[in-house]
Amino acid sequence: MTATVIDGKAFAATVRAKVATHVERLKAEHGVTPGLAVVLVGEDPASQVYVRAKGKQTVEVGMASFEHKLSPETSEKDLLALIDRLNADPKVHGILVQLPLPSHLNSDLVINRIDPAKDVDGFHISNVGLLGTGQKAMVPCTPLGCLMMLRDHHGSLSGMNAVVIGRSNIVGKPMASLLLGDSCTVTIAHSRTRDLPGTVRRADIVVAAVGRPEMVTGDWIKPGATVIDVGINRIERDGKTVLVGDVDYASASAVAGAITPVPGGVGPMTIACLLANTLTACCRANGLAEPEGLTA
Ligand code: GUN
Repeated sequence: MTATVIDGKAFAATVRAKVATHVERLKAEHGVTPGLAVVLVGEDPASQVYVRAKGKQTVEVGMASFEHKLSPETSEKDLLALIDRLNADPKVHGILVQLPLPSHLNSDLVINRIDPAKDVDGFHISNVGLLGTGQKAMVPCTPLGCLMMLRDHHGSLSGMNAVVIGRSNIVGKPMASLLLGDSCTVTIAHSRTRDLPGTVRRADIVVAAVGRPEMVTGDWIKPGATVIDVGINRIERDGKTVLVGDVDYASASAVAGAITPVPGGVGPMTIACLLANTLTACCRANGLAEPEGLTA
């Protein structure tokens, strides 16, 4: 079998188009412009690239973008004061503090200072609790993007066996909650799981989010399964730096029914879902109907 390729780049473009249409309607009918504030502390090059991409796409869908670039020496007090101002600003519907923060800043303290209603990353402890108990939450962007692609490919996920490899707070755990919410039977596997290949082989849906290049090989995959590869790993191959996922694409795509490539799979969906979350936060803040198909 040769797997259907799930094109995350194309799917992300359709999500952004839906967001843009909704934003236009909000402006025309309600005089409201969704706004996203992104806070970057320090000069980490990868973070600068992400923040630039977020700002550009925010503007492209018609939203207001507020960028706050702070020096690496910013004190916790000053950062918390900025978050307080953004929490109180009615033009700001979403707040994202780019991680990782410099080591002198306490990330948990900073993230939990964000108004949960504006927490478009879904990292605030209130949103984690709401998602974990099946209530309406702001949902972390990467798992939300994975869920959208799975729903688009399968329709209903009810009753399917899903194995999530990786137990991070950003991807693994919220992904498991979302799959459970869609009535999958969910296993969270990790580095200590006994017989990881055998565990993965029982899955109709595999979500790989471990950060180990090409760890999941085709012989781990049940024929016809859907494979979502969250990994973004830079490796040297034939003297060049290349991007690979946590899944060995060549062998897995020969067995799977559907698979996301790296690059061009999950990656583009993350920022698209950040925009979707900002729109959702704006609608909720104004007591307006939420956009269909863009939330969990
Ligand atoms: N750094 C890398 N990915 C992310 C993300 O999704 N959100 C935030 N806030 N920081 C990140």
